[in-house]
Amino acid sequence: MKISRVLVTQLVGVGAVALGVGLFAGKLLAAKGAPSVEPDAYLQQSPGAVRSTQASDFGLGPSHVSKLKAYPPAGKGDRTPLDLWRYAGRGKSSYTSPTLPVPFDEWLIKNQKQKVKLMEDVTAHMQGRFDFSGTPVEGASMSGGKPVMRGPVTRLPKGVASFTELATLSADEIRQRGLFPFLPLAHPLQSTAHMVFPKVWTDAHPEHLRIDVDHDFPDAYLPEFPPPLFLTTHKELGDVTDGKEITVGNYYEIFDGLLTPEQMEGLKELLRPTPSTWFNQTQHRVTEKPSAGVSCLACHVNGHTNAAFELAPDSRPNLARLRVDTPSLRGNYNMMQLSSKRSIRGMDHFAEVEEYFDGDPGMQQAIGPRGAQRSVTNRMGDFNAIIDFPPAPKLGPLERLFADKASESELRGEELFWGKAKCGQCHYGPAFTDDYMHDLQVERFYPGRPEGPIKTFALRGIKDSPPYLHDGRLPTLDDSVEFFNLILELGLSGQEKADLVAYLLCL
Ligand code: HEC
Ligand code: HEC
Repeated sequence: MKISRVLVTQLVGVGAVALGVGLFAGKLLAAKGAPSVEPDAYLQQSPGAVRSTQASDFGLGPSHVSKLKAYPPAGKGDRTPLDLWRYAGRGKSSYTSPTLPVPFDEWLIKNQKQKVKLMEDVTAHMQGRFDFSGTPVEGASMSGGKPVMRGPVTRLPKGVASFTELATLSADEIRQRGLFPFLPLAHPLQSTAHMVFPKVWTDAHPEHLRIDVDHDFPDAYLPEFPPPLFLTTHKELGDVTDGKEITVGNYYEIFDGLLTPEQMEGLKELLRPTPSTWFNQTQHRVTEKPSAGVSCLACHVNGHTNAAFELAPDSRPNLARLRVDTPSLRGNYNMMQLSSKRSIRGMDHFAEVEEYFDGDPGMQQAIGPRGAQRSVTNRMGDFNAIIDFPPAPKLGPLERLFADKASESELRGEELFWGKAKCGQCHYGPAFTDDYMHDLQVERFYPGRPEGPIKTFALRGIKDSPPYLHDGRLPTLDDSVEFFNLILELGLSGQEKADLVAYLLCL
């Protein structure tokens, strides 16, 4: 409390000094012969132009726009609607404060109390959307051996007998009758938001257990933990981790003799915790005890993902930010488009700009510097650049299945992928991505806020990283195929969808 107050005062102080310098510079200008005006009036001399016409609905249609609600007021830690897709518009401010609204003792009690009911409601909400009681796909497993779950587990809307029946309806009809089953997922506590780790992670790392919210997916539908790590530079070794989670304590032992000293240093940096908006040593935090922070590999564990989620840092108000599921770092060496919407163009650059502060430098100032120099982030990029995709023994050098290794169903799936199902139009090349952002215009199917263009995520190694889509709303590959069949209006039959899933499991 005290620390952050002092910091705020200092920040305000810095602001005042900056303003003073600005005023001073204005006076200086005036003295040097520029027109002698007060700063206010000076700015008003340049009011900007206004066009006489203004479109209102931007192609969505007036009935769509009028259905969107204004965001409810939500202070830090207040519960937020789980159907945030219904809301749109602007918030009160882009800026927030690094000070809690109440003393830490009260904050802790309020959050711990609220968490019990919140998680009951979140579990009921998730059970209402998904049937998580499924079984694994026979004969399929992730690269380290964890079973892959069968789907679709998304529940059908009332009165619709099958996904195939649903796909015979038009987008307008589905929207008007409220039948779209693949609605966006919100962060369960979007006012505080920030990173939420799965139970397997917090069991091993209790310092990341939050006082206010837990992960909302059952473990069977999440990636294996710890996942294997494959290196582009040592294909012959397979998983180099020996089944272990790489930590600051064991990285040297695991990698000495395999990595260059620069990669080794980069890996150490990827493992080193740094403070974040809500995991830090001040009282502005979501852990009971002060926290050393998080490391890159706390979410991208072993260079892959544990499906921790957070909010994309790229928008305001907070309630408009999209929930994002941690993507794998595997095969990033082949991608030119990093992050769902920020279009970051390189791995070193990503390490440089990834600052854990939700796109708010003010928070960073208050909680502690990260101070990663260019040379350091370059090394983080160096290690990131050798994290490989998992083996795909049925896939040949031209990204086609070996005909003598693949099953009939997998081969039919491949043909659909490049043909009738149109997947290959956006998912191609060695990583199975075109490296573009696309606007899938999913809002055609529900009266919600459009999510806009999102990057095409890679499909190589895709069986290892459920749940799918930027927010994880598609728990299995079967759900993903049903989603694309519906929104791209492909008209695939039951057999065709099964073949497509069989193919995706080979990638
Ligand atoms: C919450 C845990 C979390 C931590 C900690 C974290 N990331 Fe991420 N990372 C994510 C999420 C979520 C995304 C997706 C962001 C988006 O879509 O805007 C992401 C995206 C990325 C991407 C782009 C991947 C892609 O396919 O587009 C890279 C590269 C990356 N992170 C590197 C890092 C580095 C380097 C660090 C440490 C400085 C780091 N991450 C720390 C969760 C995390
Ligand atoms: C118009 C381009 C386009 C086409 C065609 C397309 N996709 Fe995608 N795909 C995307 C985009 C963009 C995303 C990310 C969307 C998001 O996260 O909101 C994506 C995401 C995915 C994901 C989730 C990946 C992850 O890591 O979460 C899967 C699975 C997928 N696509 C499978 C398919 C399949 C199967 C087909 C064919 C039936 C297909 N896609 C057709 C653009 C496309």
